[in-house]
Amino acid sequence: METAEIRRRWLRFFEKNGHAVVPSAPLIHDDPNLLFVNAGMVPFKPYFLGQESAPWDRATSVQKCVRTQDIEEVGKTSRHGTFFQMNGNFSFGDYFKEGAIRLAWDLVTSGEESGGFGLDGDRLWATVYEDDDEAIELWIETTDIPSERIVRRGKEDNYWHMGVPGPGGPCSEIYYDRGREYGPDGGPEVDEDRFLEFWNLVFMQHELSAVRSKADFDIAGDLPKKNIDTGMGLERMASLLQGVDNMYEIDEVYPVLARAAEMTRREYGARSGHAASESHPDDVRLRVVADHVRSSLMLIGDGVTPGNEGRGYVLRRMLRRSVRAMRLLGYQDACLPELLPISVERMRNSYPELERDFERISTIAYAEEEAFRRTLASGTTLLESAVVETRRTGSATLSGERAFQLHDTYGFPIDLTLEMAAEQGLSVDREGFTRLMQEQRDRAKADAQSKKVGHGGTGAYRQLADALGREVEFTGYDEVTSEARVAGLIRDGEPVVAARAGEDVEVVLDRTPFYAEGGGQLADGGVLQLASGAVVRIHDVQKPISGLIVHRATVVAGEVHTDESAHAEVDIERRRSISRAHTATHMVHKAIREALGDTATQAGSENAPGRFRFDFTATSAVPASVLRDVEQRVNALLLEDLAVSADVMSQVEALEIGAMALFGEKYGDAVRVISVGDWAKELCGGTHAERTTQLGLVTLLGESSIGSGVRRVEALVGADAYSFLAREHAIVGQVTEMLKARPEELPERIGTMLGRLKDAERDLERLRREQVLAAAGRLTDSVRDVGAVRFLGHDAGREAGGDDVRAMVLDARGRLGTDRPVVVAVTGTKGGRPVIVVATNEPARARGIRAGDLVRIAAPHLGGGGGGKDDLAQGGGSDPGAVGQALSAIEWRVGELGD
Ligand code: ALA
Repeated sequence: METAEIRRRWLRFFEKNGHAVVPSAPLIHDDPNLLFVNAGMVPFKPYFLGQESAPWDRATSVQKCVRTQDIEEVGKTSRHGTFFQMNGNFSFGDYFKEGAIRLAWDLVTSGEESGGFGLDGDRLWATVYEDDDEAIELWIETTDIPSERIVRRGKEDNYWHMGVPGPGGPCSEIYYDRGREYGPDGGPEVDEDRFLEFWNLVFMQHELSAVRSKADFDIAGDLPKKNIDTGMGLERMASLLQGVDNMYEIDEVYPVLARAAEMTRREYGARSGHAASESHPDDVRLRVVADHVRSSLMLIGDGVTPGNEGRGYVLRRMLRRSVRAMRLLGYQDACLPELLPISVERMRNSYPELERDFERISTIAYAEEEAFRRTLASGTTLLESAVVETRRTGSATLSGERAFQLHDTYGFPIDLTLEMAAEQGLSVDREGFTRLMQEQRDRAKADAQSKKVGHGGTGAYRQLADALGREVEFTGYDEVTSEARVAGLIRDGEPVVAARAGEDVEVVLDRTPFYAEGGGQLADGGVLQLASGAVVRIHDVQKPISGLIVHRATVVAGEVHTDESAHAEVDIERRRSISRAHTATHMVHKAIREALGDTATQAGSENAPGRFRFDFTATSAVPASVLRDVEQRVNALLLEDLAVSADVMSQVEALEIGAMALFGEKYGDAVRVISVGDWAKELCGGTHAERTTQLGLVTLLGESSIGSGVRRVEALVGADAYSFLAREHAIVGQVTEMLKARPEELPERIGTMLGRLKDAERDLERLRREQVLAAAGRLTDSVRDVGAVRFLGHDAGREAGGDDVRAMVLDARGRLGTDRPVVVAVTGTKGGRPVIVVATNEPARARGIRAGDLVRIAAPHLGGGGGGKDDLAQGGGSDPGAVGQALSAIEWRVGELGD
């Protein structure tokens, strides 16, 4: 049965049983604790916790999920995939254990002809939480599973929570026995490859306040209602129903694997046993490729772009791991252009948007592969020099610092370092490397954490959010001053009831006009005037957890208390200036897409007072002429005085009117669309100017690369743009004044001047050389007899460099002939660095007078060294005052040898 069919049956079955069919939420979800959606229940969490009331009593979904903590296991077991789909049915206070067990049993065991999955009930096992007698009873009463196939297991296996504070509960899992060939008898406790878990029924009834590990957590109390959350692994069910060994061999994944095998001329599965633990390394690599290509497709599809942190890093890692695995299999060319189209072909049935968006998705993926291939090429050279250096120190271990540097600075993956070092007979200090990596991660985490949630963790925020019982109301779209109530104060991570003048405090208001940093827009600043007369200055505003807005502030006068009323006043100049920048960003985004096509998608932005930067995907540099056109287009539209409006609408409507950037929105959410006239429409939660004329002027400062496939433009807006241009104008004014030329003549005039300057420099150099050689001509006048040798020693002075000196020496030796022994030694001290050149003729050498020896005697006087052949040698040093001594030393030695 095809995966798409399993999914259809699932949804139809639960729809028939009174469940609302809810489409998958995107992989990126608005929860600071989660990198990606990792379970079907994530979008429903507020309903379980009772924070929001569920629109339905029963729901069902097939949710896209990514889990990466087991990324190293991918391909080695049959069960681990980074991307997978979780089929779920949910009850929000409606049916509970009995209903969940009955529905599951019906769907799994009813025949294929009646819409079920038709699994053999005799092969099914169930597990329950250790003391859940009720569940055991229900399995026995409701199904045909005998008690010997119902197993009690502890918290580690049969209590489910999100890994972070939130809802949780005991669970009951369903296993399928794949038969003897997959492993020993004994049930799930003995072998989880043979007994494959495919469906988890969670009896969601507790709220957890702290989670330290799978089995170590604190239950704060009961949830308002008893709920059901189930998760059936779609890929696992597909592997069972398609009779294949593992999830890499199902219809949605295998074609990529097969193509990879073909490209690398490997025979998949030829040397592996059934159990994936017996897999040949080639098979593991092929599975890694198949898994990661699909996960990358899905991640980019949901708006993730490769980067060096967070989600972007996970994506980068997966793309690189697949490229790397292909290389290890012997494939050197770009592989994604071959593999990604196959993956999209398999996935488009369930996710048609992938096909529509494939140009953008593939542009990003291929650019990342290209960048990585360049890294590999340059990293290989770097690694080789690190190896040579290590050998030179007599060590057989490449240092952790070197490995870390290769990784950190050049993006060279550690496994590659390990392998290539091993090829050279070196080991790598892995411990040192891991320590440095950990230190870096800790630093990054501390930085990110302290920005977003302060140093106290999220505990205090949750407490305040719970006490408030609803989201903080943001009033700032309509007003810049609001009347509010102090809903809570936090100092050093702890809730407090008051804060005094001079103290730093975080303030939570029940409603606020202050915009919290987000969507690329910087936070507002401003003040709070409290009813008690206290004054608080706000310097940052963040949303540390969903629904809560926190003002980072300093009390400047009086004492602020919880529960008192406050008059909140946003710094209007700053706000206006940021809003203008934000509107300008939308306009530049749109104009860039008009110029470069729709693959130029936003990859990040920062809207600050008077300036912004905008990052977007593009495979090559944007030509200056295109940038000029973009700037011109935007400024022309400013003058059209377009109205900037915000409308809240459904996602479908937003799509219909062609709004840009439909990523990361939760299904069913109303979205806010900002329209600049009828021209640029974009989903956005930020604040904006009212009309384009308020922007005044937009100036692009330039464009650069900030990573593979991502470019950045920086720009100024309004008064800042004006000041920038005014400054440039003033500089041009000065230059026209100096050159007595009109501004438009400047480039040509300066070009001509630079040309003349170059000519003049060349002439000067020629003259100097001629002078030096003329001096050489006169040199031979000062030749002296030292014993039987004709010796010429001369200091050519501060104008003569190495080339000059050599030319003089050769010239003089030529003039002095070969009928008697000749030694010529000349020094020069151009730039304060002394050089000495010595030449001998044939009769001198016949007497054993060698130029190289003479230089070696002279150079130490100059504070340096040198050497060369018998006929010509050169040396140098650092002490220009010692050239006389150097020449004397040579003369002395010539005297000794010449007698
Ligand atoms: N939320 C449960 C799980 O992820 C169903 O396994």
